[in-house]
Amino acid sequence: RIAKLYGRRVWDSRGRPTVEVEVHLADGAVGRAIAPAGASTGQGEALDLRDGGSRFGGLDVRRAVGSVNEEIAPALLGLDAIDQESVDRLLVNLDGTPDRSRLGGNAIVATSMAVLHAAAASAGVPLWRHLSGGRPVRIPLPEIQIFGGGAHADRRVDVQDFMVVCPAARSFCEALDWTAEIYRAAGSLMRKAGKAQGVADEGGFWPAFDSNEEALETLTLAIETAGFTPATQVGISLDIAASQFGTGGRYTLALDDRTLDTAGLIDMLGGWIEQYPILSVEDPVGEDDHEGMVEFTRRFGHRCQVIGDDYLVTNAKRVEAAATNGAANAVLVKPNQAGTVTEAHQALRAGKDAGFATIVSARSGESEDITISHLSVGWDAGQLKVGSFTRSERMAKWNEVLRIEEALGDSAEFSGWSAFTFPDS
Ligand code: PGA
Ligand code: ZN
Repeated sequence: RIAKLYGRRVWDSRGRPTVEVEVHLADGAVGRAIAPAGASTGQGEALDLRDGGSRFGGLDVRRAVGSVNEEIAPALLGLDAIDQESVDRLLVNLDGTPDRSRLGGNAIVATSMAVLHAAAASAGVPLWRHLSGGRPVRIPLPEIQIFGGGAHADRRVDVQDFMVVCPAARSFCEALDWTAEIYRAAGSLMRKAGKAQGVADEGGFWPAFDSNEEALETLTLAIETAGFTPATQVGISLDIAASQFGTGGRYTLALDDRTLDTAGLIDMLGGWIEQYPILSVEDPVGEDDHEGMVEFTRRFGHRCQVIGDDYLVTNAKRVEAAATNGAANAVLVKPNQAGTVTEAHQALRAGKDAGFATIVSARSGESEDITISHLSVGWDAGQLKVGSFTRSERMAKWNEVLRIEEALGDSAEFSGWSAFTFPDS
């Protein structure tokens, strides 16, 4: 039973305030979690409560911490932490708004995840095992950023994430080994070309490129330089995050000052899929461009993963509709987009029921919190997206999966190619 629950303000990886919640149970078990924060947020996401005004650029969270201490804590005292669904339902009802704007999505998701941790601690098992309940799980395929762009790098290039996936690796540990070599190779290629200029929000190299294509060329070359075969061993995964540069079917590319319609954007991306070893594309068109999502999935969904992030906002109903319409074949699952652990799990299950691939994902604003590493294993998501291969708010999450893989020993099954559900995978 929940005996004590309180919030505090801590700081995220962008140096912005965020909400941490700590839950103490009557049996002495403790759970703690920190809310992450997005930069390229989708419409229909749970909204974080920020103070506004001038302090920290309006980003302070004293009101959200107040929500935890003044409203959430008294309402949750005495509840059974094992019953996550009831706790989450109470949080949703207590807030009373569809977008969680009254108490704050940040206050609610940190509470929901802290309760989950407390329940696992009370059961005396690691969180991933508490979630899997003994069902077989896979160790996820990591999607790891090499270059950051879009809203995470001042729009230096249009595409937000240039990532690699290593589905031919035999283990998570080996996938990280391969990625480390590719990351190093990409860094030295950039230094040689005089393009090394630090890192973007999620720790990938700052993309001092003159075109999206130059980034794709460099990444493919980095894969080869590191000694891997593009496509069959290591693939490219892109988050286009197209809502960031277009709406209403009009897309404006920052680099070459070009405006494309939906068909033009899809043709451009299709050209990249022909030319580069691309295995996955996220949000290829804007979140309001339903026909574009359907068209892109119809043309390329057999040969590459088509992920809805801003398009699906971790919402089970939207996942079901996308499955019916053929508007994606994979769903990104971000707990703070849904609002609670239960709702995020519902979206993931809706994806699995539809035959979609599922990816548990971090946000661009993160912390040392490693909850999502456990969700990805415990929910058997198949894939985990955390950002780059530098900076400890990212590495903490990769390192936690290494520990889980080690704990599973011989029974650890790495998802590898089975992470994907598109026909040609
Ligand atoms: P965000 O970006 O956390 O800034 O929304 C991550 C993503 O788009 O996948
Ligand atoms: Zn995204």
